[in-house]
Amino acid sequence: MTPSFTTASRLLGRVVANEALSSSMIRLDLDLEAPTGFLPGQFCMVNLEGGSRMPLSRPLSILRTEGSRLSLLYKVVGHGTRLLSEAPVGAAVRVLSPLGRSFPERDDDRPRLLLAGGVGLPPLWSWFERYGRKGDLACFGGRDRDDVPWGLIPPGWRVSLDSAEGGAGPAGMFVGNVVTLAESLLPDDAPAHHVLACGPVPLLRAAAVMAAQRGWNCEVSVEERMGCGYGVCRGCVVPRPAAAGWWTACQDGPILAADDVDWERFGLPADEALAAYSDGPSCSAPAPEASA
Ligand SMILES: Cc1cc2nc3c(=O)[nH]c(=O)nc-3n(C[C@H](O)[C@H](O)[C@H](O)COP(=O)(O)OP(=O)(O)OC[C@H]3O[C@@H](n4cnc5c(N)ncnc54)[C@H](O)[C@@H]3O)c2cc1C
Ligand code: FES
Repeated sequence: MTPSFTTASRLLGRVVANEALSSSMIRLDLDLEAPTGFLPGQFCMVNLEGGSRMPLSRPLSILRTEGSRLSLLYKVVGHGTRLLSEAPVGAAVRVLSPLGRSFPERDDDRPRLLLAGGVGLPPLWSWFERYGRKGDLACFGGRDRDDVPWGLIPPGWRVSLDSAEGGAGPAGMFVGNVVTLAESLLPDDAPAHHVLACGPVPLLRAAAVMAAQRGWNCEVSVEERMGCGYGVCRGCVVPRPAAAGWWTACQDGPILAADDVDWERFGLPADEALAAYSDGPSCSAPAPEASA
């Protein structure tokens, strides 16, 4: 099992900065009433204080902490993240942090392959900052040049773009997805890497397939929709292989071994995931209820 901080704290804080780093990504810096430690891959539940406009907090991965400063990276996809993006400097927030299981720390000499897509960057950015070494291969994938938070990409990281059209940034970038980029850089006889991936479900699937084909270990961050963030609502379930029930992304994850996920059913709406059992469900946990 991968490690985690076990005790999460409910903390009040204020927005210190809420600034766009790219066409889609916003960095949110919060000054909290007390420090929150974290391990790379852990997340927090964040909300605006007096949050009647946002009844449920939203899960965001932790980018970094420094003393009582907590930094997050997010993109606007719906109501909650829109409200967050409109929070001015000084706005009051509340945070539950840190939550979930982290990516494993470096415990051997195998090189790591880090695959980050879009706002899947924070867990791998923080892992690399803490444990990264020469010989690791770190890749980030963005939609186009303007989508890449260039100021945040560490030196040596490789970048892929879905589209080479327009935008500011270096010319001659790799066009394709981040897994294809990694495949192009790693010959068939590359030494065994340990793969860590975070991003959209298709990226996680492709990372799992690549690792399985090469016989490499792979951990992924399963960023399911969440209600509570700490194991109560069961809004975040992830199917286990062989109809063996469900993980909760918030407590068993969000970091799971790729082999521990049923990729045929992961990412499907709950009713379709249940229906996808060929021999009927035999869950060790209740069926998922409506998510956040
Ligand atoms: C452990 C974890 C870590 C996360 N880390 C980050 C992060 O660092 N940065 C970031 O920008 N986002 C992150 N997310 C996703 C983020 O929580 C959602 O984008 C956010 O909750 C959406 O809230 P909303 O009210 O804006 O959108 P909603 O109105 O709830 O949804 C808008 C759209 O986004 C989709 N959506 C909502 N939640 C998710 C999700 N978890 N995964 C995929 N699609 C979703 C909905 O289906 C809908 O299409 C993380 C999620 C989890 C579970
Ligand atoms: S988010 Fe409530 S159980 Fe996971």
